[in-house]
Amino acid sequence: MSEIMEMLVRRGFIWQSFEIYGGMAGFIDYAPLGNGLRRKVETLWREFFVINERSVEIDTPTVGIEEVFIASGHADGFTDVAIECSGCGRVFRADHYVKEKLNLEVDPTVEAVKNVIQEFNLKCECGGDFRNPEHFNLMFVTKIGPGRGKKGYLRPETAQGIFIAFKRLSDYFRNKLPFGVAQIGRAYRNEISPRQGVIRLREFNQAELEFFCHPGEKRHPEFYKYADDVITLVDKFDKEHRITLKEAVEKGIIAHELLAYFVGKTRRFLLAAGIKDEKLRFRQHKDDERAHYAVDCWDAEVLLSYGWIEVVGIADRSDYDLSRHTQFSREDLSIFVPFEEPVKVRKRKVVPDLSKLGPAFKDKAKKIAEELERLEDVGNDITVVVDDEEITVSPEYYEIKEVEEEIHGERLIPHVIEPSFGLDRITYAILEHAFDTDTVDGEERKVLRLKRKLAPVQVAVLPLLSRDVFVDEAEKIASELREHGIYTELDVTGSIGRRYRRYDEIGTPFCITIDHQTFEDETVTIRDRDTTTQVRVGKTELVEVLVELLNSEKSITEFGEIFRS
Ligand code: GAP
Repeated sequence: MSEIMEMLVRRGFIWQSFEIYGGMAGFIDYAPLGNGLRRKVETLWREFFVINERSVEIDTPTVGIEEVFIASGHADGFTDVAIECSGCGRVFRADHYVKEKLNLEVDPTVEAVKNVIQEFNLKCECGGDFRNPEHFNLMFVTKIGPGRGKKGYLRPETAQGIFIAFKRLSDYFRNKLPFGVAQIGRAYRNEISPRQGVIRLREFNQAELEFFCHPGEKRHPEFYKYADDVITLVDKFDKEHRITLKEAVEKGIIAHELLAYFVGKTRRFLLAAGIKDEKLRFRQHKDDERAHYAVDCWDAEVLLSYGWIEVVGIADRSDYDLSRHTQFSREDLSIFVPFEEPVKVRKRKVVPDLSKLGPAFKDKAKKIAEELERLEDVGNDITVVVDDEEITVSPEYYEIKEVEEEIHGERLIPHVIEPSFGLDRITYAILEHAFDTDTVDGEERKVLRLKRKLAPVQVAVLPLLSRDVFVDEAEKIASELREHGIYTELDVTGSIGRRYRRYDEIGTPFCITIDHQTFEDETVTIRDRDTTTQVRVGKTELVEVLVELLNSEKSITEFGEIFRS
């Protein structure tokens, strides 16, 4: 286990799920501190992508009925290629295995994998041969209800819950584009052989924003906030750019302003969470790499001990999902978008001749006439669908008239720009980037330099001695801090130096010490995790000082008299 993983398990951030039964790859437990951190990452995400965005948040089921995933394309297309050893029986994800053993990129198709196995005589680690590669669908199948029940799947992304509620959502926004809908929740993927610890999970947490926009207006009024940010981009030809977002749009590296807006906002969010800018880049998907629904996609990648790891995918999903759900559910998911000014247009309208349609088409004539009247700007050969039957209607049954009409708007299926965040990978990346060692008083110290706002324990109250009078005072102070919403622990065990080290290691930004002087002049000391500087402040000012410190990057030396132990 790496040094950081050892610390995360020992201190109570992350544990292996089902540990007493031997564990299972792809599942983790969030232990008390890890859970606290992930929840705060969620809160920060909400601040960026819900409160400070034109969006709302919803919560839909994690189980979906089969129809949803047939329409979304996941039932057919959400697969990886698996290879199984005929000797030891182990199964590997083919593209990962080929990359690891041959350092080659292989297309995720059965044919391509077969060719590589043959060409390079690729064997299993045990020396055995691989059986024929197969597509493996990553969705967990389930059954809803008793008996034969109804087939369902655990959702592989939170997004579909938003698309299928689109009609209600667009009413909620009074059909006014653009608007965003967010969802934070569990997603499930039955990964073939998850071997990267906390990175590739079978049950994980996503925070997704589906931002619905007019297909011809992929802009954002707040792009100016990020336009001048300099950012590292790796385009689909593997060319690296250090460039402002404005230039990236002007040069056509990023397809449009709205995608660039979310790239910029994602970067600011990741930096606010503690990801280091020099270990962050945005990589464009190659043409053969994009998901079935995406027309352009940029991944935020973070450099970790595992290499460059995708933590966010930002995709232009166009109208793919809403069109597919329209087609499969037969619910019209288009919306009416009014023009600023009405527009006059000349149109060729069809006027059915019922006196001829009646005798020729009998009981279907009325429905055919209705379908004909609905047609706009037609050519000469007209085919309509009535009761699932295609009927060709020749020109003798209708007349085409040129008319001028005033058009007040248009019906369209909105496009979707989707920033999709993996909260588990982000939480782990924050921990790796915060993990540091330095020397304090001639001794090596391990310290987790978490952002103050995200620390699972924000303040530790430490009585210098374990005598009742010190502990009682510490309890009073801890209780007051908790009442003000500050995550506080009280710790009495061990020397004060050891206790400081313990809280440095879990990233607690401030330790409060109750010492002899507390009883003389009603002051306590505040110790800063990063600098180990201490200041003395009055007990009555403590809450105010801590609230300000925790919500800023200010130095504690601004708040009290510097104190050296
Ligand atoms: N709705 C789009 C979507 O799900 P994705 O790129 O497949 O896109 C988005 O997933 C994010 O979810 C990824 O950037 C990653 O952070 C996270 N993610 C995907 N699969 C994961 C897994 N098996 N374990 C942990 N996180 C995962």
